[in-house]
Amino acid sequence: MDQQQQTAPHMLTVAVTGASGALGQALLRGWHARGAQLIAISHSQAPLELASADGQPIPLQQLRWQTGQEPALLEQLQDVDVLVLNHGINRQRERSAEATEASLDINALSSWRLLEGFAALVAQRSAAERDARPRPEVWINTSEAEIEPAFSPLYEISKRLLGQLLSLRSLDLARALRLRRLVLGPFRSALNPAGVMPVGFVADQVMLQARLGCNLIIVTPNPLVYVLMPLATLGRWLYNSLLTRT
Ligand SMILES: NC(=O)c1ccc[n+]([C@@H]2O[C@H](COP(=O)([O-])OP(=O)(O)OC[C@H]3O[C@@H](n4cnc5c(N)ncnc54)[C@H](OP(=O)(O)O)[C@@H]3O)[C@@H](O)[C@H]2O)c1
Repeated sequence: MDQQQQTAPHMLTVAVTGASGALGQALLRGWHARGAQLIAISHSQAPLELASADGQPIPLQQLRWQTGQEPALLEQLQDVDVLVLNHGINRQRERSAEATEASLDINALSSWRLLEGFAALVAQRSAAERDARPRPEVWINTSEAEIEPAFSPLYEISKRLLGQLLSLRSLDLARALRLRRLVLGPFRSALNPAGVMPVGFVADQVMLQARLGCNLIIVTPNPLVYVLMPLATLGRWLYNSLLTRT
């Protein structure tokens, strides 16, 4: 192997759930601009076609999954460096048992299962493989609904559960993975057509804060969240560290 081959930079492989949604597509474009190899993870059957700003098709591999099928999905994520857990639903004005189960399963538990499964996957990598790659990352899109009203009780309950699980499990998982929490305010999408921020702006800010090294990534017009969210994560870290063991 010559010198050039030895020093060739590792091309990041990035997988994004909720890939056909507004933020999923915007983040895939952002990662493409950074030269990453893309895996789009969708629960829907429709093929995803993305184009860059200059109209060129963006190459991507598309994987299908349904919540509950996380083990089968994880088998296909062996080579992933960054897993972005972005899928979500908002069952506004509903409170049925079915809507409760769907909200908890899709918004909270499936992301938690994928987080645990991916952590187990990277733990199996050999020391040589670990040395050759950057530290694996999981980005988890919780929402400012973790700490703020979102005028949708099931959405708030499920996103708060996801945020709390992330705070608790990150005490162990952050040793092997870099965990980044995305705390986003309202942006326009099918999930929130009245969102005030354009999704492209949100994705650009997310990518920028990640490049700057932030693990707590906040994008919102609400200044309170920039104060309350760091305090909430610090409080949970203290509480969980004092009351639980590894
Ligand atoms: N919009 C906002 O104001 C806002 C604010 C804060 C946080 N967020 C969060 O940002 C994330 C992306 O939301 P978005 O606003 O971009 O909404 P979106 O356009 O509706 O995208 C959400 C995507 O989630 C996936 N999904 C939907 N039902 C699913 C199911 N049953 N199983 C698995 N995946 C499913 C779908 O993508 P596939 O068909 O590709 O699977 C869907 O396109 C969500 O987690 C949301 O909670 C949104």
